[in-house]
Amino acid sequence: MSGQVRRLLLVVACALIDADGRVLIAERPKGKSLAGLWEFPGGKVEPGEAPEAALIRELAEELGIVTQVACLAPLTFASHAYDEFHLLMPLYVCRRYEGTPASREGQALKWVRPKALRDYPMPPADAPLIAHLVDLLEPP
Ligand code: C5P
Repeated sequence: MSGQVRRLLLVVACALIDADGRVLIAERPKGKSLAGLWEFPGGKVEPGEAPEAALIRELAEELGIVTQVACLAPLTFASHAYDEFHLLMPLYVCRRYEGTPASREGQALKWVRPKALRDYPMPPADAPLIAHLVDLLEPP
């Protein structure tokens, strides 16, 4: 059998929803992998850290907002085998948080209608999540 063994990287992501039903996306800044692509906010889960705790931490670090476990609703999982690792990424939906999301790490931010998310180039792990958000937020 050929092929390579990939480590599993656990990343958490969040669809923050505003009062108009729009979703927040962030542009990966220059110098990072996948720079210029748009993603759902979130980040790596540290060893031993619960996914929800990681997401609350990342939202505070990246966007300066505060939320609670009770405000995070699990929606689905993304999975993608990159060359170097296999990414597993639960997506949570969050409608309640304190503060106004603002760029804390130099990333551009945009509030986008769910169907318009398709107009933004996203990493291969994130793109399939759009259909789940459209089903939830803009059903036919
Ligand atoms: O954000 P960070 O660079 O720490 O994420 C590690 C890796 O996980 C990225 O290089 C990217 O391949 C992947 N990732 C992703 N979608 C996200 C966040 C991270 O595909 N929303």
